[in-house]
Amino acid sequence: MSVLIAPSILSADFAALGEAIAAVERGGADLIHVDVMDGHFVPNITIGPPVVQSIKRVAVVPLDVHLMITDPDRYIDAFVQAGAAMVSVHVEVLPHLNRTVHAIKALGAKAGVVLNPATPVGALEEIAGDVDFVLVMSVNPGFGGQRFLPRSEVKVRAVRALLDRAGNQAPVEIDGGIDCQNVGRVVLAGARLIVAGSAIFHSGDPERATRELRAAAVGATAPPAARPA
Ligand code: DX5
Ligand code: ZN
Repeated sequence: MSVLIAPSILSADFAALGEAIAAVERGGADLIHVDVMDGHFVPNITIGPPVVQSIKRVAVVPLDVHLMITDPDRYIDAFVQAGAAMVSVHVEVLPHLNRTVHAIKALGAKAGVVLNPATPVGALEEIAGDVDFVLVMSVNPGFGGQRFLPRSEVKVRAVRALLDRAGNQAPVEIDGGIDCQNVGRVVLAGARLIVAGSAIFHSGDPERATRELRAAAVGATAPPAARPA
């Protein structure tokens, strides 16, 4: 499977989201990553379904909605109605994760589950066959611009192995502190959906930064002989 680039608009100018999305789409973005925070699960508040609905009107590529909220079951329907093509939920808040994953699928969206840095991969053991993707957090969720936690690379490998054992080709997504320097490592570890916020939107040229991130990510998948020295 190829690598997909998902710029996170968390680091964009919220007064100019349409322009931000158009720029990364010109740069080849495959998805738009939308970070929803409720001030409970994470110490930050961002956006809700009405903003997603507005984004949906201008975005050409699908919306990848990452719910960092304590009660996702209550809002899944609203986010899918608003235009989310992919919805990811944190295992840390869901005692009935199987029900939630299947509820997302029943609404017609791709269902992803997310692991915080301190959550063991084993938490996915019983759901690995059911998910459409798994998101490995490589920072503690809540804010953009944090430093990539190096252990996440091993975790991506472990999640990939678990999905393979379950016979599930669902992609692994990585989110937090990703840039052109470290993206190759996580791609080699098995990540195929690449989220990046500050590396793209704080770069001064989001279109170009999207293109460069893709080049760095795709470069890692090329056979060693084809890689630049
Ligand atoms: C963090 C969010 C991320 C964030 C990534 O809680 O889930 O999607 O936007 O931003 P960077 O790439 O700056 O770490
Ligand atoms: Zn995110």
